[in-house]
Amino acid sequence: MKTLSEKTVYITGGSSGIGLETARQVFAQGAHLVIIGRDKDKLHRAVKTIDAARITSIQTLNSVSLDVGDNRKVETDLPKIMEDSGVPNVLVLNAGIGFGGYFEDTPYDLFDRMIKINLYGVRNVIAAALPKMKVKGGKIVIVSSIAGLSGMIGYSAYGASKFALVGFAQSIKPDLKRYGIEVALVCPPEVETPLIVEEAKTIPPEAKAFKKIAGLLTAEQAGKGVLKAIQGNSFLVIPGLKAKFSALLIKYFPGFIQRGVGNLIISLNRKDS
Ligand SMILES: NC(=O)c1ccc[n+]([C@@H]2O[C@H](COP(=O)([O-])OP(=O)(O)OC[C@H]3O[C@@H](n4cnc5c(N)ncnc54)[C@H](OP(=O)(O)O)[C@@H]3O)[C@@H](O)[C@H]2O)c1
Repeated sequence: MKTLSEKTVYITGGSSGIGLETARQVFAQGAHLVIIGRDKDKLHRAVKTIDAARITSIQTLNSVSLDVGDNRKVETDLPKIMEDSGVPNVLVLNAGIGFGGYFEDTPYDLFDRMIKINLYGVRNVIAAALPKMKVKGGKIVIVSSIAGLSGMIGYSAYGASKFALVGFAQSIKPDLKRYGIEVALVCPPEVETPLIVEEAKTIPPEAKAFKKIAGLLTAEQAGKGVLKAIQGNSFLVIPGLKAKFSALLIKYFPGFIQRGVGNLIISLNRKDS
């Protein structure tokens, strides 16, 4: 999709971090935009920020409070949202929550919430948008993580949800092609957003050290990666040079990363070492 001018773009999790930055960049290209999140105040503040990037007076900018993990609500609300704001040409599935902690500190309810939002949330929104989207085709962009490409200590729940998204994206890509819908996947490394501020409260030191290998990006840099996925032809987009290099190592030398580098980092950073 070369130009986003007058295209309708939906971004889940568009009220903060990577989603907000993507929303700003998309709006700056003249798109009509719908952002989805739960917290109304956050959405309200995001709309103000995004509106500053407006380039024409005809651009529409709507925000919707919706929990993507609540399938019943998504099934009933999304068709209404599409009636009001138009059917998306581009659907960005970015809403997600994070948590870093040892497995024994990851209770069932947290694991359940993580999968419900990070995995089912993506599934729910695509399923509800598909009946309308398949009529005109378009682009679906799923935001996973570098933690969806390589298992990491401290990410039993988060990593599981992000790995699942990779399989999900690989599965629906050939499936939706018959409707003229392209699918792309973005796997960012660590990004400076409120999510990592929250995560820092519980993340084990080994996980913190392991994450450093793939580098740290600003939300703006990660947003550019999502934009590349929207507008380019690649299935997999990995923003950041260090992260691209890490992904190559993960692909071609998984044992070296998991056992070699992983074990070394763990032994050097273990809490009790
Ligand atoms: N930051 C990183 O280091 C990093 C790295 C790789 C991948 N990612 C992925 O990038 C995505 C965005 O993360 P971020 O770092 O930008 O986080 P963030 O700043 O915390 O933003 C998360 C967004 O998702 C929304 N959201 C969360 N749960 C939701 C739900 N149940 N229904 C609807 N909206 C929901 C939030 O709004 P409400 O809370 O108001 O609902 C917010 O708009 C996530 O999928 C994350 O896993 C992040």
